[in-house]
Amino acid sequence: MGQAVYLQTYGCQMNEYDSELIRSILTNRGYHFASTTEEADVVLLNTCAIRENAHRKIYGQLDLFLPIKKQRAKARQPFIVGILGCMAQNLKDELLEHRAVDLVVGPDSYRALPDLIGNIAKTNQPEVAAFLSEYETYSDIAPVRQEGVNAWIAIMRGCDNFCTFCVVPYTRGRERSRSMESILHEVRQLVVMGYPQVTLLGQNVNSYRCGDDDFADLMTAVAQVPGVQRIRFTSPHPKDFPIKLLHVMAEYPNICKHIHLPLQAGSNRILDLMRRTYTAEEYLRLVDTIRDILPMTTLTTDIIIGFPTETEDDFQETVRLVQQVAFDSAYIFKYSERKGTIAAREYPDDVTAEIKTDRIVRLIEIQRQISFHKHQSYIGRKVHVLVEGKSDKQDGHWIGKDDGNITTIFPSPLQTLGETVSIEVQQANSSTLYGVTTDHSVSVAPRGCIPVAGVVTPL
Ligand code: SAH
Ligand code: SF4
Ligand code: F3S
Repeated sequence: MGQAVYLQTYGCQMNEYDSELIRSILTNRGYHFASTTEEADVVLLNTCAIRENAHRKIYGQLDLFLPIKKQRAKARQPFIVGILGCMAQNLKDELLEHRAVDLVVGPDSYRALPDLIGNIAKTNQPEVAAFLSEYETYSDIAPVRQEGVNAWIAIMRGCDNFCTFCVVPYTRGRERSRSMESILHEVRQLVVMGYPQVTLLGQNVNSYRCGDDDFADLMTAVAQVPGVQRIRFTSPHPKDFPIKLLHVMAEYPNICKHIHLPLQAGSNRILDLMRRTYTAEEYLRLVDTIRDILPMTTLTTDIIIGFPTETEDDFQETVRLVQQVAFDSAYIFKYSERKGTIAAREYPDDVTAEIKTDRIVRLIEIQRQISFHKHQSYIGRKVHVLVEGKSDKQDGHWIGKDDGNITTIFPSPLQTLGETVSIEVQQANSSTLYGVTTDHSVSVAPRGCIPVAGVVTPL
């Protein structure tokens, strides 16, 4: 039997998907997977670089590996530690300065992983592979998926937008799309495996191109695959959100009515410094169009507070926009300077930590109240919930997401995993809807299959 690998994933859904590719690449070459670091010969951390705390988390983890490495060395047993993903691409050789690290592999170099690990096992010398490719899409590799009702599918990789704050264009390289046929093939297989939901992923899904086909054409084709119950996508960029996509979303009931539309800031001066290439007014017009065509859609967003030179007035413009749009929910982040980005070169990180904390606390509270009121309006209404599992908060309760991606909890003595159930909402807070089942099941995942780790398992 080959070496045992423990793989831990950090960061966004794209990293989750990449870890499934990595599982596939390593499994095909005889490696197997361990569920703890103690049982592993090789530990791989698939990392994120988006904010400084993502880096800090990994360094903390690496420090914990030092005593294990020492013990293993004494016992003449292997313990190879690899950093994969965006932090690997971002820091490259610099990561080898940490004594725990043997291997550094960026997001476009995963095919080399089995050989690189093999080399280290033989020579005990560190290996670094961090070349960005203009072509790599891994579209010929069948991901080994994790248990769950959702399957991620990367439809494009990389980003050409170069928002001034963002490290992703440097860690993920240039935009490139997979062929429509390879994506549709993967979707058809997922239906056979019993996955009720697929989520199409890209740093900017609007940039998807395959010949004359764009993202709206791809969504149409995916929605037409027989048996696809739910389709989600993330993320579109507000600068080039296609109106055609809204009409496609309206036409197909299996496309979930949820749009994650990262705003970042409400001040035009800050949006300009961020190089987002839209204004607050254009963003608002887009929101109006979305709500005209898709009145039931939920809207969520990402916001950065404390970007260099942000004044209280700039921040108030963000607050006003958040109130005007009334997002269903928002991820709000403190600006974190990233080495090598345009903002790091051109604008000193001059908003103090205290001011960032003060502004984020205020904005989170404002959004919490908006989410609370929005969710209260669901009381008495029916939502259709795809059940993801048992609630770990309440015994005998199940947890899932409604069409608009709102977490919903309900009691049921029946096995409902993977089913879409109709729930009447009775209570709600800023994050969750609580309700009871009406008629038992709206639609059921294909019988005979439960979605487990990419294999079809008979019930
Ligand atoms: N491609 C996606 C964003 C991916 S990163 C998009 O443009 O929609 C996810 C979020 O992290 C971003 O939307 C942004 O809000 C946040 N982010 C990115 N860089 C950051 C930084 N340097 N500091 C703080 N937050 C950041
Ligand atoms: Fe980063 Fe902007 Fe690209 Fe999103 S669109 S990944 S924020 S550079
Ligand atoms: Fe994702 Fe973090 Fe990389 S958000 S693309 S894993 S920097």
